[in-house]
Amino acid sequence: MKIFIDTADINEIKEAKSLGVLDGVTTNPSLVAKTGKEFEPCIKEILEVVSGPVSVEVFATDHDAMVAEAREYATWGDNVVVKVPIIKEGLKAIKTLSSEGIKVNVTLCFSPMQALLAAKAGATYISPFVGRLDDVSHDGMELVRQIVEIYANYAFDTEVLVASVRTPLHVVQGALMGADVATIPLKVIDSLLKHPLTDIGLENFQADWEKRKA
Ligand code: E4P
Repeated sequence: MKIFIDTADINEIKEAKSLGVLDGVTTNPSLVAKTGKEFEPCIKEILEVVSGPVSVEVFATDHDAMVAEAREYATWGDNVVVKVPIIKEGLKAIKTLSSEGIKVNVTLCFSPMQALLAAKAGATYISPFVGRLDDVSHDGMELVRQIVEIYANYAFDTEVLVASVRTPLHVVQGALMGADVATIPLKVIDSLLKHPLTDIGLENFQADWEKRKA
């Protein structure tokens, strides 16, 4: 499973990168706004640090304007993936952009049929938002399971990217289901590594070693 970090904060990206297991980054307008930086310099700073895929979201909501923004983003780096929302105009834009060889991450996916259409249009990634579904009492990970199964039935190349991750369990379940990618906030990446028995075990090993020297 590939691990992306879900943030536009350059310090968080550098910290995650230093762990040596980071494959890419996803951003969205809310995450960029949180940094207090202007959009273009914020994204370009990320592109200087990350060589893996960096998802950058369009602001427009009609086909022509989305495609124009996407073409501009694509000039910023070979690793730019354009994020397009799964609305009618977005679907048309996915088709246009994928035909031009521009990679597309289809965002705001909340149903298996949205995922099927995105794949048919040539999406590189589909992003089911599991945490936001859980928030409204739906089972976010059940959507991931359905998408993985549908894509396998028809041998689509589109990668399933678990998004809106809130807990380590989302990542565990995504990995068990065979999701290709999880995009994860830094605090959840940190908690993937933590186990109280690891900490207690290490403390005991160190204490026993110190006793021996005394
Ligand atoms: C995905 O690419 C989105 O940026 C993100 O995962 C949304 O997560 P949220 O629901 O925590 O805002």
